[in-house]
Order: sequence, then structure tokens, then C-alpha cells
Amino acid sequence: MASIIDGKAISLAIKEELKKKVRELKEKGVRINLAVIQVGDNPASAVYVRNKKKGCEYIGIGSLSYELDKETTQEELLDLIRELNAREDVNGILVQLPLPSHIDEDTVIRAIDPKKDVDGFHPQSVGALCIGQPGFVSCTPAGVIQLLKRSGIQIEGKECVVLGRSNIVGKPMSILLLRENATVTIAHSRTRNLKEVTGRADILIAAVGRPKMITRDYVKAGAVVIDVGINRDENNKLCGDVDFDDVAPICSAITPVPGGVGPMTVAMLLYNCVASVTIGQSGAIS
Ligand code: GUN
Repeated sequence: MASIIDGKAISLAIKEELKKKVRELKEKGVRINLAVIQVGDNPASAVYVRNKKKGCEYIGIGSLSYELDKETTQEELLDLIRELNAREDVNGILVQLPLPSHIDEDTVIRAIDPKKDVDGFHPQSVGALCIGQPGFVSCTPAGVIQLLKRSGIQIEGKECVVLGRSNIVGKPMSILLLRENATVTIAHSRTRNLKEVTGRADILIAAVGRPKMITRDYVKAGAVVIDVGINRDENNKLCGDVDFDDVAPICSAITPVPGGVGPMTVAMLLYNCVASVTIGQSGAIS
């Protein structure tokens, strides 16, 4: 039976480290503020935003909340971002995605000052990650690396398969694993012989958004399985991309949903907020 990677416990350890750093910064007169913008009333987004604000409070950083009506125009949102870019007391700006369909996400992400891009979504942040320069790293993939490292799982030299190629998870995930000297394959909906490909993985990262898609016939015995998915099953119960009950007995370590990768996203967002003042823009955490 696999060991269960406890994302709640690991994220709490990171938050405690950050809390200490924030206290030290406060003694030096440095205060950190994160601006959180939500447009519309997507219920899942509201939960994520609430958790992010609670995380800020927990480690002692300020959060400014902007809950905008779903009819907000793109120009109004861009005006707010420009105002926050200019404010010296705002260190990080987070625009919760998805945005209503009349707003172009790329335009909004590009409007955020890269020095305040704590989500790591700006093309400058992504480019910096690709060429190994300092910059903010997308929170969920950064959280997966921390889960692996803090669970004592070696990444260097391992065959890693990332299932999914989104800008937020799959692509940055593969670059981060490469940075850790893994051999990386990105698999996706058009990959042929998918089970053969995922079955080669020492570390399999599932980020496809399909409830319980990964059954044991996709997984090599003894592999480490990281489940990034947050879905609802047929009974409206929260579940991942991995069929946990089927896969857990044959792998060496696995993340549950909930309580695996999810809490790490918030922890790494908080890490980026603190990093924005302590170490310039370095998104790296060892
Ligand atoms: N929507 C889903 N995940 C994320 C995230 O990490 N950041 C933001 N801003 N929106 C999201």
C-alpha cells in the first residue's frame, strides 16, 4: 500500500515558515499586501479566493479584496490593475480565473506588473522560468515540487510523465521537473498509446481535469502518483483525476483529493507574496 502524501501537513509547515519570515519583516518595518480580484460570482472561485485570503491572514500579511460585478468591463478591470500596479503598498496582484467570457484573460494577465505577478502567469514570468532566470513560478506546479521534495522523493534522473498541457499546470510543471534534472514527457489528449506512456513513469502527475480517469492500468507498480485534478464525481463528491482506491494499492506514494495538491497552491501563493519583498522576484524555493 502506498504512503499518502499529506498536502495539508506540508502546506502547514510552509505556512509556519512564512509566518516567521513575515514576523521578522514586520520588525524591520516591512509590510506585505496582496490584492485579490474576483469578477462575477463563480462559486468555486469564491471558495479559492476565501482560502487565499484566509492564508494571508494566517501568516500575517494583508489582503485587499476586490469583488467586482460580473458585468464589469475589461477596461474597468484593466484600470483597477493599473491603479494597483502603481500602489507602493501593494506587493502582489491576483486575478482569480476564469474570468467572464467578455474579458480576455491574456490581456488581463499581461496588464499585471511582472514584479507583482504572484500567480506566475505573466509571459515574462513564464519566459524567465523556461530559461532559468529569477521570476515568480506558477503556484500549483511549484507546490507539487515541494510535495515531492518534502516527502523525500528524489526527482533527479527519474522518468516523469505530466498528463495535461495547460499554461497554469502542465507546461510549467514539466519545466520545473526538468529544472530538477528529471527526464520529462508531456502527455495529452492526442497522445497515442497513452497507457504505455504513463506506464513508464516513475513519477506520474495527472492534471487533465477528468474525474478518476487514471486507473491502475495507467500506472507502473511502485510509481509515485500526484493528482492535480479537482473534479466532482457522479455523486457530486470532490475527486481527483486519479481513481485513488484503484491506484493506491499498487503505487509507492500518492496524493489524496482533497488534502493533497490543493492546499499547496495557497501555500506557494503565500510564498510568492513573501518572496516579492525578501528575495526580489526569485520564485525558487529549495
Ligand atoms: N483559477 C484556478 N487556479 C488558479 C490559480 O492558481 N490562480 C488564479 N488566479 N486563478 C486560478
